[in-house]
Amino acid sequence: IPQKLQSDDEENISLISSLPFDVDFDSTKLFKYQGCWYDDKTLQGVLNFQRGFEPQDTDIIIASFPKSGTTWLKALTVALLERSKQKHSSDDHPLLLDNPHGLVPFLELRLFTETSKPDLTSISSSPRLFSTHVAFQTLREALKNSPCKIVYVWRNVKDVLVSFWYFNSAKLKIEEERSILDSMFESFCRGVINYGPSWEHVLNYWRASLEDSKNVLFLKYEELKTEPRVQLKRLAEFLDCPFTVEEEERGSVEEILDLCSLRNLKNLEINKTGKTLRGADHKIFFRKGEVGDSKNHLTPEMEKIIDMITEEKFEGSDLKF
Ligand code: A3P
Repeated sequence: IPQKLQSDDEENISLISSLPFDVDFDSTKLFKYQGCWYDDKTLQGVLNFQRGFEPQDTDIIIASFPKSGTTWLKALTVALLERSKQKHSSDDHPLLLDNPHGLVPFLELRLFTETSKPDLTSISSSPRLFSTHVAFQTLREALKNSPCKIVYVWRNVKDVLVSFWYFNSAKLKIEEERSILDSMFESFCRGVINYGPSWEHVLNYWRASLEDSKNVLFLKYEELKTEPRVQLKRLAEFLDCPFTVEEEERGSVEEILDLCSLRNLKNLEINKTGKTLRGADHKIFFRKGEVGDSKNHLTPEMEKIIDMITEEKFEGSDLKF
C-alpha cells in the first residue's frame, strides 16, 4: 500500500472511532461528524475530500441532500455550460454519451473514496464540475476559502423520503416493502440517515446563500418544476453564462429544458442500459419526478409528524415545503 494511502486510512479510522454513533433503518452504523451522520465508507470519502481537495477558483460544485433533484441539476448545468463550447453535431452532446453522474462526479462518493490525493488531471470539463451531498459546514472546510460557485437544490422532505425508498429498493433489486418505508420514516425523523438530518442540511445551505449570494445559489426542486424557464435563467446568470437575447429568440432555453427533461433523459440509450462506476443501473436515477408523490405512500399520520418537525425546524426562516 502506498504510504500516503495508508496514513489516510489510519488517520480516518482513528478519527471515526472517536465519533458518536447510532444505527439507521437497516442497522447500518452511522457516525456523527460536524453535525451530520455518515456511514463508515462515505465518511472516509468525506475526510479524504476535506483533507486533500485542491479547489480551483472556477470550480462549480453541485450540492444536495440525496434524492432532491441532483441528477436533473447536473444535467441542466452540463447543458448550460456546453453552449459556449464548440458546436456539437446532434449526436455527440455529452448528455447523450454519459449519465449526468458520470459527467459530474461525486467528490466524497467517487473521487475521494480511497485516497485524499486522487488524480484529477483527466477531468476534462472546463470549468470543472463536481458534486457532493456533504453538509455545508463540511464543504466549506474542504473548499478552503476558494471562491468556487456552489449550486444547491432542495426538495420537500416527504417526497425525498419516498424517492429514497424507491431508489433503495431499485438499487437492491427488491420489491418496495412497506416495512422498509416505515423504518426509513423513523430514521428520517430522527435525522439518523446518511447525510442527515435533512432539515439542517437545507437550512445551512440556505443561510450560506443569504450570506454569500454571489457564490451560493439555492434552488428548489418544486420551483424548477413549476417555473423551469425562470429557474434555468437564474442558474445561467449565477454561473456567468446568461442567455443572450438571440439565444432566447432561438429557443435555447426550451431546448435545454427538453434535453434535460425526465422523459428525455430516461429514454436515452445510455440511461436505459448503462451503469455507474459503482455498478448501479443508470435507470434507477429516473423515476416519476412528481411533486407530492409522497401523498400516495405516506399515511396522514406520517405526513402530520413530518409537517410538525418541519415547522419547528424551519421556524424563523422563510422556508416552506
Ligand atoms: P422521484 O423518485 O420522486 O421520481 P436525485 O437526482 O437527487 O437522486 O433525485 C432523484 C429524483 O429526481 C427522483 O424523483 C427522479 O425521478 C427525479 N429526477 C431525475 N431526473 C429528473 C429530471 N430530469 N427532471 C425532473 N426530475 C428528475
